[in-house]
Amino acid sequence: MARITASVYTSHVPAIGAAMDLGKTQEDYWKPLFAGYDYSKQWMKDNKPDVIFLVYNDHATAFSLEMIPTFAIGTAAEFTPADEGWGPRPVPVVKGHPELASHIAQSVIQQDFDLTIVNKMDVDHGLTVPLSLMCGELDPKKDAWPCPVIPFAVNVVQYPVPSGKRCFALGQAIRKAVESFDEDLNVHIWGTGGMSHQLQGARAGLINREWDNAWLDQLINDPVACAHTPHIDYVREAGSEGIELVMWLIARGAMADVNDGQVTGPLPTVKHRFYHVPASNTAVGHVILENSAA
Ligand code: DHB
Ligand code: FE
Repeated sequence: MARITASVYTSHVPAIGAAMDLGKTQEDYWKPLFAGYDYSKQWMKDNKPDVIFLVYNDHATAFSLEMIPTFAIGTAAEFTPADEGWGPRPVPVVKGHPELASHIAQSVIQQDFDLTIVNKMDVDHGLTVPLSLMCGELDPKKDAWPCPVIPFAVNVVQYPVPSGKRCFALGQAIRKAVESFDEDLNVHIWGTGGMSHQLQGARAGLINREWDNAWLDQLINDPVACAHTPHIDYVREAGSEGIELVMWLIARGAMADVNDGQVTGPLPTVKHRFYHVPASNTAVGHVILENSAA
């Protein structure tokens, strides 16, 4: 059967993608940020998954304000990097996994989460920047991403957005779905976005190191309490776009220690943890968790 063995969490700032695409990663401003992902790129090579289930948000790219699914699963065979106004990023096309994605849709909807099924969509920086950070620079003419990716888009752009509690429960349903797929696949689940940032209004530029790091501690060590963080706390403490962090709770809820809404097993092993300020207007957080042996 298929299994989720690890989860990866990372911010997805578009300027990080631009720095990679324009060859600026070794400049003084960017060097410390990219150094935080050296371990991760090696870890990806040493622990290459068969499939990545990548939780991210679309930034009014594939979905405009005309249509806003709360949870959308990409079931297509491939997803094209989107043009967000400066042309598409020069990265490989993202290959999907239609069989596993369709199976997860079937199972998760039967577990009472009403997903939107998406058979065609372009993927924006929310998905491609985490892939670039974890896989390094790739030439779209010669290279491919290391494995198929199932995009899972969450609405965190237009209120009402789903609660952390709902996201955490959804992660558990996704793990059940993966574990009922009748093929031996090593699946990684990624939660992306965040950490503290506000891109607009009077508090534009807000960053809150202390809150971010306390939230990371809680995500790792007490995910049930973390899942109960109300929306208003994210907005007040981590800025208007800090709400993207609820997506990390989907990945955390899919880890093996969480059962029926409680932590019942050994906490996952922290393979890597990194925090850096600033990247553009944003605090960057990054964690890699592996399931511990029961
Ligand atoms: C920016 C955009 C994002 O989607 C994000 O998560 C962080 C930063 C930006 O435009 O700088
Ligand atoms: Fe974002």
